[in-house]
Amino acid sequence: MEGGAVGAETRLAPEELEALLLIMNFYRDAELRGARLLLNLHRHLRDPDSQAKLTRHLADETRHAWLWTQRICELGGAPSDVVGGYQHRMGQKIGVPRDVVEILALTIVAENRALERYNEHAMRTGVDKGTLEVLEAVTADEQWHLSWVGEKLSELAPGRGGQDRVAQLLERYRAAEQEVYASFQADEAKLLDLIRRESQ
Ligand SMILES: [Fe+2]
Ligand SMILES: [Fe+2]
Repeated sequence: MEGGAVGAETRLAPEELEALLLIMNFYRDAELRGARLLLNLHRHLRDPDSQAKLTRHLADETRHAWLWTQRICELGGAPSDVVGGYQHRMGQKIGVPRDVVEILALTIVAENRALERYNEHAMRTGVDKGTLEVLEAVTADEQWHLSWVGEKLSELAPGRGGQDRVAQLLERYRAAEQEVYASFQADEAKLLDLIRRESQ
Protein backbone atom coordinates (compact mmCIF):
# COMPACT_ATOMS: atom_id res chain seq x y z
CA MET A 1 0.00 0.00 0.00
CA GLU A 2 1.31 3.44 -0.78
CA GLY A 3 2.11 5.97 1.91
CA GLY A 4 -0.56 8.38 0.69
CA ALA A 5 -3.29 5.75 0.87
CA VAL A 6 -2.25 4.80 4.38
CA GLY A 7 -2.25 8.42 5.44
CA ALA A 8 -5.72 8.87 3.98
CA GLU A 9 -7.02 5.81 5.79
CA THR A 10 -5.59 6.55 9.22
CA ARG A 11 -5.08 10.33 9.05
CA LEU A 12 -1.92 9.73 11.05
CA ALA A 13 1.24 11.78 10.75
CA PRO A 14 4.23 9.60 9.72
CA GLU A 15 5.69 9.60 13.24
CA GLU A 16 2.32 8.64 14.74
CA LEU A 17 2.04 5.80 12.25
CA GLU A 18 5.53 4.61 13.22
CA ALA A 19 4.56 4.75 16.89
CA LEU A 20 1.39 2.75 16.24
CA LEU A 21 3.33 0.12 14.28
CA LEU A 22 5.74 -0.27 17.18
CA ILE A 23 2.85 -0.76 19.61
CA MET A 24 1.20 -3.31 17.31
CA ASN A 25 4.46 -5.22 17.07
CA PHE A 26 4.52 -5.34 20.88
CA TYR A 27 0.96 -6.73 20.84
CA ARG A 28 1.87 -9.29 18.20
CA ASP A 29 4.89 -10.44 20.20
CA ALA A 30 2.84 -10.77 23.42
CA GLU A 31 0.16 -12.82 21.62
CA LEU A 32 2.73 -15.21 20.12
CA ARG A 33 4.55 -15.70 23.42
CA GLY A 34 1.22 -16.14 25.21
CA ALA A 35 0.42 -18.89 22.70
CA ARG A 36 3.66 -20.61 23.63
CA LEU A 37 2.63 -20.64 27.28
CA LEU A 38 -0.61 -22.36 26.24
CA LEU A 39 1.32 -24.99 24.31
CA ASN A 40 3.03 -25.87 27.61
CA LEU A 41 -0.40 -26.36 29.18
CA HIS A 42 -1.33 -28.91 26.49
CA ARG A 43 1.23 -31.27 28.03
CA HIS A 44 -0.16 -30.86 31.54
CA LEU A 45 -3.93 -30.91 31.04
CA ARG A 46 -4.57 -34.16 29.21
CA ASP A 47 -8.33 -34.61 29.81
CA PRO A 48 -10.53 -34.19 26.69
CA ASP A 49 -12.42 -31.15 28.05
CA SER A 50 -9.20 -29.26 28.79
CA GLN A 51 -7.67 -30.31 25.48
CA ALA A 52 -10.69 -28.95 23.58
CA LYS A 53 -10.65 -25.65 25.50
CA LEU A 54 -6.89 -25.26 25.23
CA THR A 55 -6.95 -25.86 21.50
CA ARG A 56 -9.66 -23.25 20.98
CA HIS A 57 -7.77 -20.85 23.26
CA LEU A 58 -4.53 -21.45 21.34
CA ALA A 59 -6.36 -20.88 18.05
CA ASP A 60 -7.65 -17.56 19.45
CA GLU A 61 -4.20 -16.35 20.52
CA THR A 62 -2.55 -17.27 17.23
CA ARG A 63 -5.44 -15.58 15.39
CA HIS A 64 -4.86 -12.46 17.51
CA ALA A 65 -1.19 -12.52 16.49
CA TRP A 66 -2.31 -12.87 12.87
CA LEU A 67 -4.81 -10.00 13.13
CA TRP A 68 -2.05 -7.72 14.44
CA THR A 69 0.31 -8.96 11.74
CA GLN A 70 -2.30 -8.23 9.07
CA ARG A 71 -2.99 -4.77 10.46
CA ILE A 72 0.73 -3.95 10.59
CA CYS A 73 1.08 -4.97 6.94
CA GLU A 74 -2.09 -3.10 5.89
CA LEU A 75 -0.60 0.07 7.36
CA GLY A 76 2.58 -0.39 5.35
CA GLY A 77 4.68 -1.73 8.22
CA ALA A 78 6.38 -5.07 8.73
CA PRO A 79 6.25 -7.62 11.53
CA SER A 80 9.48 -7.27 13.47
CA ASP A 81 11.33 -8.94 16.30
CA VAL A 82 10.67 -7.45 19.70
CA VAL A 83 13.47 -7.47 22.25
CA GLY A 84 12.43 -7.27 25.90
CA GLY A 85 8.68 -7.38 25.25
CA TYR A 86 6.04 -7.85 27.95
CA GLN A 87 5.98 -11.66 28.04
CA HIS A 88 9.76 -11.87 27.93
CA ARG A 89 9.95 -9.57 30.95
CA MET A 90 7.33 -11.64 32.74
CA GLY A 91 9.46 -14.75 32.20
CA GLN A 92 12.54 -12.97 33.55
CA LYS A 93 10.72 -11.71 36.61
CA ILE A 94 8.67 -14.77 37.52
CA GLY A 95 10.89 -17.58 36.26
CA VAL A 96 9.76 -20.90 34.80
CA PRO A 97 6.40 -22.03 36.25
CA ARG A 98 6.89 -25.27 38.21
CA ASP A 99 3.51 -26.91 37.75
CA VAL A 100 0.13 -26.60 36.07
CA VAL A 101 -1.29 -24.39 38.82
CA GLU A 102 1.54 -21.90 38.34
CA ILE A 103 1.05 -21.84 34.55
CA LEU A 104 -2.71 -21.29 34.95
CA ALA A 105 -2.21 -18.52 37.52
CA LEU A 106 0.36 -16.83 35.27
CA THR A 107 -2.03 -17.10 32.33
CA ILE A 108 -4.81 -15.38 34.29
CA VAL A 109 -2.58 -12.48 35.31
CA ALA A 110 -1.27 -11.98 31.75
CA GLU A 111 -4.77 -12.32 30.22
CA ASN A 112 -6.10 -9.70 32.63
CA ARG A 113 -3.39 -7.30 31.55
CA ALA A 114 -4.08 -7.93 27.87
CA LEU A 115 -7.77 -7.21 28.38
CA GLU A 116 -7.08 -4.02 30.35
CA ARG A 117 -4.49 -2.79 27.86
CA TYR A 118 -6.65 -3.43 24.81
CA ASN A 119 -9.64 -1.75 26.48
CA GLU A 120 -7.49 1.22 27.42
CA HIS A 121 -6.17 1.49 23.85
CA ALA A 122 -9.68 1.33 22.38
CA MET A 123 -10.75 4.24 24.60
CA ARG A 124 -8.00 6.55 23.34
CA THR A 125 -9.06 9.38 21.09
CA GLY A 126 -8.36 9.14 17.39
CA VAL A 127 -7.97 5.35 17.11
CA ASP A 128 -8.43 4.53 13.43
CA LYS A 129 -11.31 2.29 12.35
CA GLY A 130 -9.22 -0.70 11.21
CA THR A 131 -7.20 -0.79 14.43
CA LEU A 132 -10.35 -0.41 16.52
CA GLU A 133 -11.85 -3.41 14.73
CA VAL A 134 -8.83 -5.52 15.66
CA LEU A 135 -8.97 -4.30 19.27
CA GLU A 136 -12.64 -5.25 19.47
CA ALA A 137 -12.05 -8.67 17.90
CA VAL A 138 -9.27 -9.58 20.31
CA THR A 139 -10.98 -8.31 23.46
CA ALA A 140 -14.14 -10.24 22.59
CA ASP A 141 -12.24 -13.51 23.24
CA GLU A 142 -10.55 -12.52 26.49
CA GLN A 143 -13.55 -12.91 28.81
CA TRP A 144 -13.91 -16.55 27.85
CA HIS A 145 -10.17 -17.14 28.27
CA LEU A 146 -10.27 -15.72 31.79
CA SER A 147 -13.38 -17.66 32.72
CA TRP A 148 -12.32 -21.16 31.65
CA VAL A 149 -8.78 -20.80 33.01
CA GLY A 150 -10.18 -19.51 36.33
CA GLU A 151 -12.60 -22.44 36.54
CA LYS A 152 -9.83 -24.94 35.80
CA LEU A 153 -7.63 -23.38 38.45
CA SER A 154 -10.40 -23.70 41.08
CA GLU A 155 -11.05 -27.29 40.02
CA LEU A 156 -7.39 -28.31 40.36
CA ALA A 157 -6.61 -26.31 43.51
CA PRO A 158 -7.79 -28.87 46.14
CA GLY A 159 -5.33 -31.51 44.95
CA ARG A 160 -2.48 -29.07 44.39
CA GLY A 161 -1.94 -27.13 47.56
CA GLY A 162 -5.47 -25.79 48.06
CA GLN A 163 -7.18 -22.47 47.43
CA ASP A 164 -4.79 -20.70 49.80
CA ARG A 165 -1.85 -21.62 47.62
CA VAL A 166 -3.70 -20.37 44.54
CA ALA A 167 -4.65 -17.09 46.26
CA GLN A 168 -1.04 -16.54 47.37
CA LEU A 169 0.29 -17.35 43.92
CA LEU A 170 -2.11 -14.93 42.26
CA GLU A 171 -1.20 -12.22 44.74
CA ARG A 172 2.53 -12.77 44.16
CA TYR A 173 2.13 -12.85 40.38
CA ARG A 174 -0.06 -9.75 40.33
CA ALA A 175 2.50 -7.79 42.35
CA ALA A 176 5.32 -8.96 40.08
CA GLU A 177 3.26 -8.24 36.97
CA GLN A 178 2.54 -4.68 38.08
CA GLU A 179 6.28 -4.04 38.32
CA VAL A 180 6.87 -5.67 34.93
CA TYR A 181 4.12 -3.66 33.24
CA ALA A 182 5.30 -0.40 34.82
CA SER A 183 8.82 -0.98 33.48
CA PHE A 184 7.47 -2.01 30.07
CA GLN A 185 5.26 1.09 29.92
CA ALA A 186 8.13 3.37 30.89
CA ASP A 187 10.36 1.93 28.14
CA GLU A 188 7.50 2.02 25.65
CA ALA A 189 6.91 5.70 26.45
CA LYS A 190 10.63 6.46 25.92
CA LEU A 191 10.58 4.74 22.52
CA LEU A 192 7.42 6.56 21.45
CA ASP A 193 8.87 9.84 22.63
CA LEU A 194 12.04 9.18 20.63
CA ILE A 195 10.03 8.49 17.46
CA ARG A 196 8.11 11.75 17.90
CA ARG A 197 11.21 13.84 18.69
CA GLU A 198 13.14 12.42 15.74
CA SER A 199 10.40 13.65 13.42
CA GLN A 200 10.72 17.26 14.58
FE1 LIG B 1 -4.90 -12.64 22.85
FE1 LIG C 1 -6.29 -14.35 25.70
